[in-house]
Amino acid sequence: MNKRLTVIFVLFALILPAALMAADGGLFDLKNVDVGNISEGEPAEFEVELRNITGSPLNINKVDTSCGCTIANAPKGPIAPGETARIHVTIDTRGKMGDISKELKLFTSGGRDPHVLTLKGRIEHFGDSLPDPSVIFQGECASCHVGDNIEQKQGAVLYNSVCFICHKNGLGGSSKASGDIDKIIAAGIPGTSMPGFSKEAGGPLSSEQLKALSTYVMSIYYPDR
Ligand code: HEC
Ligand code: HEC
Repeated sequence: MNKRLTVIFVLFALILPAALMAADGGLFDLKNVDVGNISEGEPAEFEVELRNITGSPLNINKVDTSCGCTIANAPKGPIAPGETARIHVTIDTRGKMGDISKELKLFTSGGRDPHVLTLKGRIEHFGDSLPDPSVIFQGECASCHVGDNIEQKQGAVLYNSVCFICHKNGLGGSSKASGDIDKIIAAGIPGTSMPGFSKEAGGPLSSEQLKALSTYVMSIYYPDR
C-alpha cells in the first residue's frame, strides 16, 4: 500500500466576533476558507476553527458534505458563546483537477437554516501523470456516482443518475472540450475530472447506452448541431 502523506493545516479564524456579530446575525464567524494548494492523490486534512458569534450555546448536530469525497467531523457537545469549535475535514483528492470548491452545511441547535462553510483550494500535480477520473466508478464512490441498476437506465434517467451530479448548470461551457460528443462521453476529457464512461475507459456504460446518451445530450444541449 502506498504511503500516503497527510498534511494537517490548522486554520485559525480571525478574531473579529464583535464586528461579524453585527454584520448579519450569523451563527459562526467564518464562511469561506482558502485551503491553498493540495496535491492530487493524497487525502488532505484540515482543522477549521469556527467561533460561536451568537449569544447562546450552539450544538452542531450534523455536517453535510455533498460529495462523499469530503468527510467532516464536528465536536460533540455545546459551544459556548464566543468559544471556538474545531471541524476536522478530510478531502479525498483522487480524480480532481484545478480549482475545487466544497460546501459544508452545519446543522445546529441555532435554527433550521444550516451555517454554510465553503472550502476553496487548488489541486496540484506532481510528475507527468494525469489524474485518473475513473476513480468515481470504483469502491464507495460508485454508490453515488454510478448508483444501482445502471445497466437498465437510458436517456434522461441515465443522464440524471451519472451526469447531472457534475453538470447541474447544463453542458456546453467547456474550454477544453474538442471533438464529437460521442467521444467525450466515452473517453472523457484528459486532464480534467470529466471521466470516460465506456467500459474501456473504466466506466459503467455499454456501447448501446453510450450511443443513446449521446443522442439524448445532442437533442437537449446541442439541438442545432
Ligand atoms: C454521497 C454521495 C457521493 C459519494 C459517496 C461520492 N460523491 Fe463525488 N460528488 C457527489 C456530489 C453530489 C457531487 C457534486 C457536488 C460537489 O462537488 O460536492 C460530487 C462531485 C464529485 C466530483 C466533481 C467535483 C470535484 O470535487 O472535483 C469529483 C471529482 C468527485 N465527486 C469524486 C468522488 C470520489 C473520488 C469519491 C469517492 C472517494 C466520491 N466522489 C464519492 C456525491 C458523492
Ligand atoms: C465527476 C464530474 C463529471 C461527471 C460525472 C460528468 N462530467 Fe462531463 N465534464 C466534467 C468537467 C469538469 C468538464 C469540463 C472540462 C473542462 O473544460 O475543464 C466536463 C465536460 C463535459 C462536456 C464538454 C462540454 C461541456 O459542457 O463542458 C460534455 C459534453 C460532458 N461533460 C458530458 C457529460 C456526460 C454526458 C456525462 C454523463 C455520462 C458527464 N459529462 C459526466 C465533469 C464531469
